[in-house]
Amino acid sequence: EIKGLIFDLDGVIVDTAKYHFLAWKKLAQNLRIPFTESDNERLKGVSRLRSFEIILEIGGLTMSEEEKEKCCTEKNNLYLEYIYQLKSDEILPGVRKFLSDAREKGYKIALGSGSRNAKLILEKLEITDLFDVIADGTIISQAKPDPEIFIKGAKLLELPAESCIVFEDAAAGIEGAHAAGMYAVGIGTAENLPKAEIILPGLKGITIKDIINKLQIHIK
Ligand code: BG6
Ligand code: MG
Repeated sequence: EIKGLIFDLDGVIVDTAKYHFLAWKKLAQNLRIPFTESDNERLKGVSRLRSFEIILEIGGLTMSEEEKEKCCTEKNNLYLEYIYQLKSDEILPGVRKFLSDAREKGYKIALGSGSRNAKLILEKLEITDLFDVIADGTIISQAKPDPEIFIKGAKLLELPAESCIVFEDAAAGIEGAHAAGMYAVGIGTAENLPKAEIILPGLKGITIKDIINKLQIHIK
């Protein structure tokens, strides 16, 4: 029986990809690396450091670990300038309603995001109180597709993995959910997320009951 719902943040609850893009773009420009919006697609769901390594690969550059660390800090400072301006109405359509309805029905809700800015973003969206627990980038040592973040999320909820489902927009997150022993709801397209048990374009007009019904059909 499903009792817990674990939500990715970036791309599921809020579209932060555009702000990540603007920050990475500024950093790439300083390094004279061409960086486009289509390159940015490759960074969705990818850790901060790995994202920067992909950008370095695009530019054909190499750097010491220390230099990479410095650039990642610089990128995050640029990113935070956008996040400080984030407005609560930037929450993706249907998300607030989905979360409050699920909570009312007794489901436990966790955040499962690799972002180290997750708590600030939830505050900005004014939805911190809709989460029972928060598993974010500050408590993990392995980024998705490693299942660590979801395993920690379930542990914080005090639920076994098989009682939890994950909501994810990135293929690496779907992989991580499965490795944790959880079903995954993909937010996106079947083309991008072929492994998800359920695929939805977003949470608008969807209730937890719809998800549970679809899952029952799927696992029969
Ligand atoms: C993921 C985003 O949720 O978090 C990635 O999809 C991002 O784009 C990663 O790189 C790490 O986030 P942050 O906020 O700690 O740099
Ligand atoms: Mg995501």
